[in-house]
Amino acid sequence: MIYADYNGSAPICADVKEYLINRLETGPFANPNSIHQLGQKTLMGLENARAVSAKLLGCLPKNIIFNSGSTEGISHVFYSILTDAKEDQIIITSGIEHSAVVKVCKHWAHKRNLQLMIIPTLENGVIDLETLKGWVKEYGSRIATITVMAANNETGAIQPFKEISALCADDNIPFICDTTQIIGKEPFSFKESGADFAFLSGHKLGALTGSGLIMAKDVTKLKPLIIGGGQEKDLRGGTQNYLGNETIAVGLTYFQKMSEKLHNLREARDKFEARLLKSFPEAVVISKDAPRVASTTYISLPGIHGQAVQIELESQGIFVTTSSACSDNEPSTSKVLKSMGVTDDVGRGVVRISLGLCSPLEWYETIGDAMIAAYEKLSKIKSF
Ligand SMILES: Cc1ncc(COP(=O)(O)O)c(C=O)c1O
Repeated sequence: MIYADYNGSAPICADVKEYLINRLETGPFANPNSIHQLGQKTLMGLENARAVSAKLLGCLPKNIIFNSGSTEGISHVFYSILTDAKEDQIIITSGIEHSAVVKVCKHWAHKRNLQLMIIPTLENGVIDLETLKGWVKEYGSRIATITVMAANNETGAIQPFKEISALCADDNIPFICDTTQIIGKEPFSFKESGADFAFLSGHKLGALTGSGLIMAKDVTKLKPLIIGGGQEKDLRGGTQNYLGNETIAVGLTYFQKMSEKLHNLREARDKFEARLLKSFPEAVVISKDAPRVASTTYISLPGIHGQAVQIELESQGIFVTTSSACSDNEPSTSKVLKSMGVTDDVGRGVVRISLGLCSPLEWYETIGDAMIAAYEKLSKIKSF
């Protein structure tokens, strides 16, 4: 089996698996907020996970609030920033954000009567920074927040988040950066990012699903969204997912250990794409010329449905995804691709292949063989 949907969810990485097996054997299992010895031992493990994670994420332990993952983190930060927003204020976001951001922006725009402005996307999948600069100049202090992701989940395109941070800092605008898809895929430092808020989901980097964290430059800017027993400095109620949080520290350590292999992964990915483009010159690799995470390929052969390719690959034990939202068998181009100006004949054909640092590089050879065979077969019965 070849699992090539790391952007959806990465499998538990080898070191996390080993850690967990050992951890489940030895314990302790207790409430980290209990004052007895086992509770305190569990707390020490949790705080060690915070310290290790902070070091590897380029921040301090005090900047980290553990939670269940990015969706919660995003909802929490927007709630904190926008709950008292004034009517004439503006939320600026991009057209390529994950629905966890899109829906929360729409929610707050509606609830507080705020204006929602969407930054246009360039053809290569990167946001139009020049337009954003103009808006910041024009609207300045009316802007309640700017939110742009660090790397896109579909295309892998890396956004100019450091430049956006600098823009925001000049005007004191809170910058919310969805870093879910860059952490565990490319080196990342919260401090260097300059963002006010950033997010991590454990399952995107080989840690346990349901674990995650917010990075906040100043945690006092957060208001509790989940009210409870005073955990996480009273900012996120509920007994901490200490096992999950420990696996985040292990997953981040694993990424650091493996990061010298990023170059090889990028090289293998580029070779794989070049091979497909040579065999099918009409194929399109989305965001090919943008800065991209090393592990993502988003490719389309116009006229061939992505879902048909996915089914062909799956029949050979290769698990990839498409981006198409499908209803009544009418797959449609994703909103990310639409915002890039991608036409429907390309948009309906996309297949996303996303691997990780622990994936054998030979997999690209196998996936390449299977894709070429699928494209050849499906070209004879063009789907649209
Ligand atoms: C860019 C991005 N942001 C946020 C999320 C939400 O993460 P989770 O479902 O782990 O809360 C995802 C998940 O796919 C994502 O890709």
